[in-house]
Amino acid sequence: MSCCARKGCPPQTRQPTKRSILMCRPTFFTVAYAINPYMNTDTPVDQAKAVAQWQTLYDTYEQLGFDLHLIDPLPGLPDMVFAANGGFVLDGIAYGAKFRHPERQPEGPAYMNWFRNFGLKVVEPAFTNEGMGDFTLVGNVILAGTGFRADVRSHEELRRVFKREVVTLKLVNPRYYHLDVALTVLDPVPVDPSSPCVAYLESAFDEASLATLRNRFPNAIIASEEDAALLALNSYSDGYNVVYPSKATNFARQLKEHGYNPIGVDLSELFLGGGSIRCCTLDLHPVGTGTSVARA
Ligand code: ARG
Repeated sequence: MSCCARKGCPPQTRQPTKRSILMCRPTFFTVAYAINPYMNTDTPVDQAKAVAQWQTLYDTYEQLGFDLHLIDPLPGLPDMVFAANGGFVLDGIAYGAKFRHPERQPEGPAYMNWFRNFGLKVVEPAFTNEGMGDFTLVGNVILAGTGFRADVRSHEELRRVFKREVVTLKLVNPRYYHLDVALTVLDPVPVDPSSPCVAYLESAFDEASLATLRNRFPNAIIASEEDAALLALNSYSDGYNVVYPSKATNFARQLKEHGYNPIGVDLSELFLGGGSIRCCTLDLHPVGTGTSVARA
């Protein structure tokens, strides 16, 4: 019995959508600098383990039938594995990233080159933003975080480039420095009005943003502080299958109760860099997606 069933939304309404994503193998991953509260340059990183764990994520996506693309990792850019930060892609247009910290700035052009070679129209950003780290599409609306990384002026740029509604959400806790560690989209293409659509951590947002979230997503899953600290909100959903950090077992239970299929993956080494599953995953949103596919 699920909460959804109680609300008249049977779990079988959850539909996987075909995903097309870009990833970057963590060949050069390490913690060489500290730009978020998770990073500590004194903690040793097991690079081979990081690669093996990332490979499990890649294989999981492959088994789910996702269309997978790879960008070559570059030496000296240890955070390049966090492909989500490389830009925001929609409608065949790639809005490039302009990183806040100098250590990551060369990643911006590297990702823009990849997008160009892939045949996307690239828009060079005027304002600081870290791509899907702070921007995410739900239905036809772009949710956009600010407070730590993206300059709020990038939201206006997004609106102009993609001609979609952009909803600004203000982050207030440095542990949740990107939107994609504070909120995850569960239904990229919401199936019905009672869909949760998203899961989020209430304390990561200011009051006004929280009111916006409550109003837009009245059936959202509210994550616990404990799960959020394990980066549970950095999960990746195709609308039915939700790949989540395997230690976040309470979150997995909540997902099941709402009719999703949680699949645990352990990225403990990448956690040392302050990232997890969603951070490794950049949506390419090919034109014409949004259609449901058979269940995995
Ligand atoms: N060390 C990286 C940084 O602080 C982690 C980025 C994680 N990516 C994400 N999409 N949240 O920038």
